[in-house]
Amino acid sequence: MSKITVAGTGYVGLVAGVCFAEFGHHVTCVDIDEDKVNLMKSGISPIYEEGLEELMKKNYSAGRIDYTTDYKTAYKDADAIFLGVGTPEQPDGSANLTYIATVARQIAETVENHCLVVVKSTVPVGTNDRVEQFIQDFLVNDVVVEVASNPEFLAQGSAVHDTLHAERIIIGTESKWSEEMLNSIYKPFNIPIVSVNRRSAEMIKYASNDFLALKISYMNDIANLCELVGADIQDVAEGMSYDERIGAKFLNAGIGFGGSCFPKDTQALDYLAQQNSYELQTVKAAISVNKKQKTILYKKASNRLITFSGLKVAILGLTFKPGTDDLREAPSLENVPLLLSQGADIYAYDPVGTNNFAKLYPGGPSGNGSITYVHSIEQALQDANVCFIFTEWGEIKAIDPLMYKRLMRTPLLFDGRNIYSINEMKEAGVEYHSIGRKSGSAETTKGSSHELQSARH
Ligand code: UDX
Repeated sequence: MSKITVAGTGYVGLVAGVCFAEFGHHVTCVDIDEDKVNLMKSGISPIYEEGLEELMKKNYSAGRIDYTTDYKTAYKDADAIFLGVGTPEQPDGSANLTYIATVARQIAETVENHCLVVVKSTVPVGTNDRVEQFIQDFLVNDVVVEVASNPEFLAQGSAVHDTLHAERIIIGTESKWSEEMLNSIYKPFNIPIVSVNRRSAEMIKYASNDFLALKISYMNDIANLCELVGADIQDVAEGMSYDERIGAKFLNAGIGFGGSCFPKDTQALDYLAQQNSYELQTVKAAISVNKKQKTILYKKASNRLITFSGLKVAILGLTFKPGTDDLREAPSLENVPLLLSQGADIYAYDPVGTNNFAKLYPGGPSGNGSITYVHSIEQALQDANVCFIFTEWGEIKAIDPLMYKRLMRTPLLFDGRNIYSINEMKEAGVEYHSIGRKSGSAETTKGSSHELQSARH
């Protein structure tokens, strides 16, 4: 078993570290944040991720994983050092490599053995070559440090499962020694390993993420066309999904993709292409469709309501997807400011995301309206004039259509995740607007628009 150090304890680093420990390796996770380190030592995960805390506690008490701020001790005699630090997007779409460079320099100044530095963070093609050179330039001891690429494909909300049961492991190496080291570290995972050179490994990560982003944007584009021509995107997606060349996954139209990867990685590949005087038209299209898609429901609702001023607006779901408290690039972040600027009184519910959201928008008056965080779906819907669904959490998907009718002042629903069938909403008497499908019938809208006028202050 290898002595592994992991730098950075975000989604990528912490989950990788815990999973290496689970397979018997001796792991030290390094983070600069002392409070975070103490939290992790006590078995508390700094991120919400199903199954993570259990594995943290189990492996910590078995002595297979430890957490520290003392990078010198952690790096000096490690067999392999995995980098899982952030590479945030800069305004021009390029990746900020400051954290990678900082860790690379610390490694160069401390390692005492032949060791492998493995970059898990998503970095522009060619970065691993530069990291190796950078380490070489700053190396203090007379040792060999090699660099390998090992991109991470985990999705938030299922990160532990995705790591333990990945479909493939990509390793990008430039020497037999590096390849063998990574092969032996991953052997106990029993997952197919694709071994390529470093630049191809870096590109596989971007090409995979951007392909999925493209797939979603394509479905969103088709959904918008479906609405115009009277087709139903759910039916269209189902029909497409049986073709194995297309597959059933990632065909869900909605209010655009968010999260820490797709938005950043599409921008990054577009930037990389520009740097190489190439126009990556497909990825550009995905970015532009996604931008428009984020506010498509808001526009529909604006057309329907004329103004939000004085209306109680229920928002169900704030996070970019279910199973995470992450708000990065979430549709809620685009829509809430628009609604507040139009005077909406928002009542927002999310099973785990409200604390993070409240850091950006503390409860109370905001813009021309206000925002209140509630602890239940019922509280959000009670007497609401309109409801938006932004995230398809299980408990939101499970809401009985009759509940909207019963609790809301006017049962008017804008569903960004196509949770319900048109018919069940019609039967429940809810005016229903979704993505790429027919909107609620006039029959059900008549009563509600009348009530809506009287609801305005
Ligand atoms: C993604 C990739 O799946 C993962 O392999 C990579 O390592 C990191 O980026 P993540 O961002 O955590 O993972 O979530 P994912 O489940 O892929 O969803 C991304 C976004 O796409 C979400 O906003 C989601 O709502 C949206 N999405 C996904 C759709 O709009 N439609 C779909 O059919 C699927």
